Amino acid sequence: MLGLGEQGRLVQKEIWAVGGGKGGTGKTYLSASLAIGLAKLGKRVIAIDADLGCANLHTALGADPPAATLSDFIKGRMKTLSEVLGETSFPTLRLISGAHDFLEIANPKHTEKMRLIRQIQDLDVEYIILDLGAGTAFNSLDFFLAADRGILTVIPEPTSIENVYRFIKSAFYRRFKRAVRHPDMKALVSCAMDQKNERGIRTPHDLMACVEAIDSEVGGRLRKTMAEFSPKLVVNQVRSQDDAALGLSMRSSCSKYFGIHVEYLGFVEYDDCVWRAMKRKRPPVMEYPDAVSSRGTGTVLANLLKGEQIAFDLCVRG
Ligand SMILES: Nc1ncnc2c1ncn2[C@@H]1O[C@H](COP(=O)(O)OP(=O)(O)OP(=O)(O)O)[C@@H](O)[C@H]1O
Ligand SMILES: [Mg+2]
Repeated sequence: MLGLGEQGRLVQKEIWAVGGGKGGTGKTYLSASLAIGLAKLGKRVIAIDADLGCANLHTALGADPPAATLSDFIKGRMKTLSEVLGETSFPTLRLISGAHDFLEIANPKHTEKMRLIRQIQDLDVEYIILDLGAGTAFNSLDFFLAADRGILTVIPEPTSIENVYRFIKSAFYRRFKRAVRHPDMKALVSCAMDQKNERGIRTPHDLMACVEAIDSEVGGRLRKTMAEFSPKLVVNQVRSQDDAALGLSMRSSCSKYFGIHVEYLGFVEYDDCVWRAMKRKRPPVMEYPDAVSSRGTGTVLANLLKGEQIAFDLCVRG
């Protein structure tokens, strides 16, 4: 996304969301590592804890619990997101901490959530990193879809793999439903979301084929729109070569069965340095910059920046 920066300069403004169906797969760790990595490159960054139920990004960033949180914004005690911004020990990295208090904040009303997303998109900064909560609730999906880059963390365990596939499917259907206007088409997506539907639509691929069979023109248009839906994948807690190969096999499966292009950004090895640093409330990439895990998150960041440069060049040069 292009935005206006200081003195009206055209700047790259990118929102990166880090999600994944399962809890404990390293979303917060990766969000913090990417945010710190960008800040170390001198980029202006805001890390946002969008895990509205279990906010803990500030701890992963080595910051104190902030005085103001998203609760203050959602509840209207503060009018703009800028008022909720907290400092970190990195001069160009600021933090918006998640809601800590009431359970109801974990499920904001649709209008509250949309207001929050709009204000996130308007923040004057180069990079926004959103740390999402676990699961495929609409909250996580909507933040994921509002981002320029949606990143999913998976660990090499069947439950995590299943949840990532489920997340990709759910996000695709939600995006698809927004892209169609006709009520019959919206109904078709609702039907697809029921895994046992009578039309036999089991995957995004089936849904697209079904729409094309009904109306080839609408189908062609949607195929183009949905081609932009391309989640990025990071395999975390890798212990073997087979684990590392998971990213490639998931990418092929998504292409073959869902018709969705997933970009594999790389893997991060399982590393005791991560939990050792986290235990001391210190960011692992700062405590152990040369550890294999820090090199892994560094490669992920480099791959994201490479892709982003290509997108920027396309936007600016056409
Ligand atoms: N590469 C790794 N090697 C070793 N431990 C790791 C690694 N990545 C994450 N961990 C550990 O896994 C735990 C979960 O990490 P984290 O909190 O980042 O996950 P999460 O996906 O944000 O969880 P939640 O869904 O609860 O928000 C932490 O204790 C962290 O120290
Ligand atoms: Mg987390």
